[in-house]
Amino acid sequence: MRHLLDTQTLDRETALRILDVAEDMSDTQSREVKKLPTLRGKTVVNLFFEDSTRTRISFEAAAKRLSADVINFTAKGSSVSKGESLKDTAQTLQAMGADAVIIRHPASGAPRTLATSGWISAGIVNAGDGTHEHPTQALLDAFTIRKRRFGLDSRGRDLAGIKVVIVGDVLHSRVARSNVWLLATLGAKITLVSAPTLLPQNVSHWPVRVLYDLDEALAEGPDAVMMLRIQLERMNAAYFPSEREYSRRWGLDAVRAASLPSDSIVMHPGPMNRGLEISSAAADSPRSTVLEQVTNGVSVRMAVLYLLLAGERNDERGEDK
Ligand code: CP
Repeated sequence: MRHLLDTQTLDRETALRILDVAEDMSDTQSREVKKLPTLRGKTVVNLFFEDSTRTRISFEAAAKRLSADVINFTAKGSSVSKGESLKDTAQTLQAMGADAVIIRHPASGAPRTLATSGWISAGIVNAGDGTHEHPTQALLDAFTIRKRRFGLDSRGRDLAGIKVVIVGDVLHSRVARSNVWLLATLGAKITLVSAPTLLPQNVSHWPVRVLYDLDEALAEGPDAVMMLRIQLERMNAAYFPSEREYSRRWGLDAVRAASLPSDSIVMHPGPMNRGLEISSAAADSPRSTVLEQVTNGVSVRMAVLYLLLAGERNDERGEDK
């Protein structure tokens, strides 16, 4: 694997390989000594132009558990505020010896630009670009669904026939996009539930079914319900009448969560708007996998870094594999 830029172009074999290596990594994380020597001598740069808690820390933990050196860069407090370009910033980091660059950027396509421009030779991982994609979030979500469904027997399995309902602000969600492409590749049946104003115009071309009524979708007994964050910071207009009305129609409260089959899981990528798209009762219930997703994120990102920097990075022609 040369880069990880999206899940739309990630084939089934590579996706399953990442999930299976993540299983191996997860096994090592239950040992007393969690650190592996695999990436000793490698340097991983976290290049974050947008805020993050989970993704940045998770990549840092993943890299350190593989014994890589980690450089954390955040745009705030850097020379970006003096107008330094993405190219100059990236080349500066490359000059410090970066082998992999994990980039989060408000512009959709920024990771692909880094990967294809020839500015730097490091492997690039998209940690969220605008409203485009967040591939490692989708991989950790798929890993979580698979582990909950198949337990110790997960390796090699796809998600054929698994019913996943994705609810909320699809329009602004890179998490939703990455999940739609990856879950479809793995054979899941995906239903999007949202206000009509919070769906992208091209959703009819996506491998999903669309419903507007959350209770109708929940009545079908999905295996997983994935709640999306309402991205107030990306909204420049009124997409719904009020937060109270949104919560009443599309929020997952305790009653709705309790209506699900006993083995259904409730997911959220975080950060959560408690009381808006999800109630505390649902977020903290035994069926919630919110913290499990965070834990699994470290194993999945260890797998991605391993495959990028140690495992199978033998394609020096620059193709995505
Ligand atoms: N899920 C996710 O991307 O969270 P952060 O924004 O905290 O990284």
